[in-house]
Formats: sequence, C-alpha cells, structure tokens
Amino acid sequence: MLSWEELEAACQNCKKCALYETRSNIVFGVGSREAEVLFVGEGPGEQEDIKGEPFVGRAGQLLDNMLKIIDLSRTENIYIANIVKCRPPKNRDPLNSERDACLDWLRAQYLLLRPKIVVCLGRIAATALIGGDFKITRDHGKWFDKDGVKFMALYHPAALLRDPHRKPDTFVDLKELQRVIKEICTHTL
Ligand code: URA
Repeated sequence: MLSWEELEAACQNCKKCALYETRSNIVFGVGSREAEVLFVGEGPGEQEDIKGEPFVGRAGQLLDNMLKIIDLSRTENIYIANIVKCRPPKNRDPLNSERDACLDWLRAQYLLLRPKIVVCLGRIAATALIGGDFKITRDHGKWFDKDGVKFMALYHPAALLRDPHRKPDTFVDLKELQRVIKEICTHTL
C-alpha cells in the first residue's frame, strides 16, 4: 500500500480523465490524516482549482461554520476530500466516467485513513458512496452501515446557500452526527 506522501505524489500526475486538461491544480484533500471522520464533497470549484484545497470558496466558509457548531475543524479532527479531484468546467456535475476514473484515489485515501464515519456532502457524493437509490431530500441525516463504517449525508453547503430553508434540517443532522461521534470516536472531540 502506498503511503500518504506517495499517494499524493501519484495523484498530482493523474491523467485518468480529460479533466486534467483544464485543471489549474489537483485538489487532493486536506485535514488530519489521523481523523476518524471523513467528509466527502463533489468536486473542486473555481477557488478550489486555484488554491488546490477543497472547500475554500463561499460554500467552504459555510462548511467551516457548520463544522464549528459541533467542534470539528479541518485542521484538527477531520479529513476532507472530493469525489473528483479536478474541477469540472463551469462547475458542471462530474460525468460518471470522470467519477469512476477518479474514485480509486478516494478509495486509497479511505484505506489509509480507515475512518469510522463518512459524511457525504450533497447528492453526488451520497449517490457515489451510499448507493443509487439515495435521495438527498429524503435520506439526509440517516445512517447507513457499510462494513462497520457509518455513512451519513448532509445537504451540500452550496445547496444551503441557494436554499437557506434547509439550514434547520442540517442543524438537526449536525447534532446527530455529533452524538454518534461522541459515542464511537475516541480522539475526535
Ligand atoms: N464543492 C465541493 O463539492 N467541493 C469542493 O471542494 C468545493 C465546493
């Protein structure tokens, strides 16, 4: 198995799909490599492509505020990655072929991290990681067990910026996430 450093170096040269032609930077992931909680978004936007870090635009600011409510932080106790590591042009949804080409990087990150909890941010991450029948409006905040790892989805922070009426639901989901973190994680809080 590759180390984190070897994996990141290999990922930086990725040309597995056409998104490499238009990217400025690969957005590999950020956070604690000891984290017990993995957050997964959809893919880099403009700011992320420029900076090479996930969730650094407006949606990222909201995500940081959401994390703070439950004592999580990208620098201390979680890891954040995306389904696709390169920005899709004009922020369109990643194609299935791009997603499939890229998922091996996330799988490798998952194997190195061995999280106890995976939090999918939005529909794209949830359908890729939890399953095809997933409906974000129906299934956000619910737990799904996969080989002893707990998966949950939250509304994507960009969706909350577009539709603030969903924020109260997300607050409830965050508190549920915090409850389970307190129950099963040893060094997160
Ligand atoms: N949206 C995502 O899904 N991921 C990012 O990194 C930024 C915005």
